[in-house]
Amino acid sequence: MKQAVLAGRPLRGTLRVPGDKSIAHRALLLAAMAPGISSVSGVPDSLDVRATLDCLKRLGVGLSRRGSTVRVAGRGRRGFLQPRGVLDAGGSGTTARLLMGLLAGQPFPARLTGDSYLRRRPMDRVAGLLRRMGAGIGLRGDHLPATIDGAALHGARCASPVPSAQIKSAVIIAGLLAKGETSITEPALSRDHTERLLPLFGARLRRRGLTVTVTGQARLRPARLTVPGDASSAAFWVVAATLVPGSRLRLAAVGCNPTRSGFLRVLERMGARIEMSRPRGGPEPVCDLVIQPAALSAADIGRAEVPALIDEIPILALAASQARGLSRFRGVSELRHKESDRLTGTVRLLRCFGAKAWADGDDLVIAGPARLRGARFDPEGDHRLAMATAVAGLAAQGRTVVLGAEYAAASYPGFWKEFQRLSNIP
Ligand code: S3P
Repeated sequence: MKQAVLAGRPLRGTLRVPGDKSIAHRALLLAAMAPGISSVSGVPDSLDVRATLDCLKRLGVGLSRRGSTVRVAGRGRRGFLQPRGVLDAGGSGTTARLLMGLLAGQPFPARLTGDSYLRRRPMDRVAGLLRRMGAGIGLRGDHLPATIDGAALHGARCASPVPSAQIKSAVIIAGLLAKGETSITEPALSRDHTERLLPLFGARLRRRGLTVTVTGQARLRPARLTVPGDASSAAFWVVAATLVPGSRLRLAAVGCNPTRSGFLRVLERMGARIEMSRPRGGPEPVCDLVIQPAALSAADIGRAEVPALIDEIPILALAASQARGLSRFRGVSELRHKESDRLTGTVRLLRCFGAKAWADGDDLVIAGPARLRGARFDPEGDHRLAMATAVAGLAAQGRTVVLGAEYAAASYPGFWKEFQRLSNIP
């Protein structure tokens, strides 16, 4: 699907972004592992979360959805049913990697695959650690499809080579099934949603610095929770309202977990006008945001900051293209393993609009400010690049065409509808 975009009229009013997909995947998986009825509200109807729901259904989990609330009849840690055929995670890396942790400890074999984009992404980083716990996982090289021979797992001490919440969460989920204690140490703190949700479902967990330890074979209990608005989806509107003159946009009930809101800290450092108000929430903090336009200056983003803004780099890079000076995102090579090679894709996107951007080893460098001109851009299957292109179109002179606009639905099903309501679509 092609979508045209024109330079933006001011973005004004209030908007609520869909629920956070990272939190939703985890809440649904943990609910499925807890015997009894859980209720998860604020579940986004995104393609990625649908993939998790489909896989759980195929594993015998009772699921019913009313609006954004999903009622989950959990089967207990090892009470899942052997699925017929191959489980399909679609384009969702989180579904595939977290499920691998769950399937590794089931009393049956299973096969897991994904779409052509997901089948290109590295999986051995997860499988390798799970094997240390006794898992039998076969991959095609480093990739899906995977054959997982469910096994009786034992606790292990694991170290992740990269700060990755998917690796960490897969090990923690397998740790819940294993005998004894399992710990995972990461080189820098990645998003901590799994750790925040576990106590709600009755699991015990300890954190010491960058190491998390879970006690295996604990009895989980069902829970009720509401998933906050997705900070990564909010980021597109935060940058749009910062760049389009005359905007004043309020975003209600956005998740502001510090391991996800690095983009807000960076934008504030660049001079953005973002008011955070009404802090609230349970294990996951929530707040409202009001954004008004501002003149930006360049930012230097350190390696340690990257995990807390990894998914926001394309849209932050667009903001940097409008900021005075040279911006540098340090140590962002993990971007090469996302839904696409997002480092190359971000450079390609910015250049296509006339901005100056390049990769310098593992760094992304952007020289601003650039006068953007409307462009025709193919995000090559990547939802975040598709939405960043739409916002670039608002900040550019002339007409922009987003090819493959439908990819936005991977994380943000109503994106184009909101876009139409708030800005210019011819
Ligand atoms: C996610 C973790 C991150 C992130 C992805 C979602 C998660 O990936 O980029 O969009 O839900 O755990 P990595 O774990 O590969 O860093």
